[in-house]
Amino acid sequence: MQSNGYAYIHTIGCQMNVYDSEKLGTVLHALGYQQTRDPEQADIIVCNTCAIRHKAEEKAFSFLGRFAREKQKNPRLITVMAGCVAQQEGNNAFQRLPHLDLVLGTQAFSRFSTHIDALKSGQRQIVDTAPSDVIFETLPDEIAFKENPVSKFVTIMQGCDNYCTYCVVPHVRGRERSRSWQSIVAEIEMLADNGIREVTLLGQNVNSYGAKENSLSFAELLEKVAAIDKLYRIRFATSHPKDLSKDLIQAMAGLDKVCNHLHLPVQSGSDRILKKMNRGYTAEVFWSRIDALRSAIPDMGLSTDIIVGFPSETPEEFEETMALVQQVGFDSIFAFAYSDRSSAPAAKFSDPVDEAEKMARLNRLLAFQDTITRKKNEQMTGRVVQVLVEGVSPKQHTGFVKTTPHTRQMTGRSAANKIVHFPSDTLAAGDLVDIKIDNAYPHSLWGQPLEQ
Ligand code: SAH
Ligand code: SF4
Ligand code: F3S
Repeated sequence: MQSNGYAYIHTIGCQMNVYDSEKLGTVLHALGYQQTRDPEQADIIVCNTCAIRHKAEEKAFSFLGRFAREKQKNPRLITVMAGCVAQQEGNNAFQRLPHLDLVLGTQAFSRFSTHIDALKSGQRQIVDTAPSDVIFETLPDEIAFKENPVSKFVTIMQGCDNYCTYCVVPHVRGRERSRSWQSIVAEIEMLADNGIREVTLLGQNVNSYGAKENSLSFAELLEKVAAIDKLYRIRFATSHPKDLSKDLIQAMAGLDKVCNHLHLPVQSGSDRILKKMNRGYTAEVFWSRIDALRSAIPDMGLSTDIIVGFPSETPEEFEETMALVQQVGFDSIFAFAYSDRSSAPAAKFSDPVDEAEKMARLNRLLAFQDTITRKKNEQMTGRVVQVLVEGVSPKQHTGFVKTTPHTRQMTGRSAANKIVHFPSDTLAAGDLVDIKIDNAYPHSLWGQPLEQ
């Protein structure tokens, strides 16, 4: 195909953005662009943006701002703001970024190609934040497989109907809609035919997959995906505690390919705060879900999201979160200082928590979780875990000793989502191998393959 130049795509935000960026890459590839890792070389720069917190939004503006001067030197350079900040800002984006060419909202991706054509014929400052009934679907091309040849994200639903009071997602991604199970299965079959061995099914609340469309339930979708022969592992995110059903727990326990790891965001340990957040469960209900999971799947890996410093959160309520974190013993947590989002109702709530206090709470929580994560990792030494090999480690481990001149330090993940490093002469990306864990580190494990 004739080359039209180079495209650079920068992704900020959640796993769904990673998936969307690959799709945008596929569109650009079809238009004759080659992807580059060097923004200096690019003829088109796309920033796929995230509006979840103020900091993420600022990252998008500062990244795109860097190309104002570039654009003066090379007026043919096309700059695009895509995704959640684009949807939120619309025309306003030009106030801070007058050199921007295209503002591509979250439901405008299916019109990306048309807008690029218009820009190439001389149009400037195009904004598309219009809604769409079409779920943007293109099958990934060979470019997509270069990033990770073993594991891929697959979005199964878009938008969110939960309206947690702090959250911008329903406002920028629109109402919840599920893709047809047939198109999801077709996409994963195609991925598996191309060497992908693990998929992570994505949605803001996968437990309500298909509910509106009266399609398969999420548990039934898992069964369909598990029937794809060449696929070894299935993960999914995110589960909402209020909708985590017995059927799903049973499906997880019954389907070998579904990994024993769950990301279950709790957000807070205080019932009053959970209510103000509109989460639809209490700490006790959350606990009952954890108990049900652990009795069905004993060595379940668990991670969560937590917001500290939600408006009016008292020191005592923060302690309730600390107590919950201690009692549950998550394998890892993602914790955030609450950030006001103007489209979300909590921005108008009274009694904001002071910034310094928010940071102090956040640091305490993170330091505390570090001690738990370390202990959990230490408990893994001596145990054997099954690892899906991802490839040669990007960083050499200090304990790495070459037993033959060919020994490489490889890396992969356990089913419970721990990063595992090990030496090997023969194993390659996509292999499943049993590794005996010798050593635990704060963020990874180190071991030896049992057989090769
Ligand atoms: N759909 C998922 C999470 C989506 S956003 C869920 O319901 O859990 C990812 C995480 O960002 C959230 O779980 C929350 O912990 C955090 N987050 C969302 N809005 C935020 C805000 N305004 N300030 C700080 N953290 C926020
Ligand atoms: Fe945001 Fe709540 Fe929806 Fe998650 S469930 S995306 S936190 S509104
Ligand atoms: Fe961010 Fe949008 Fe994802 S706001 S977290 S990129 S859905």
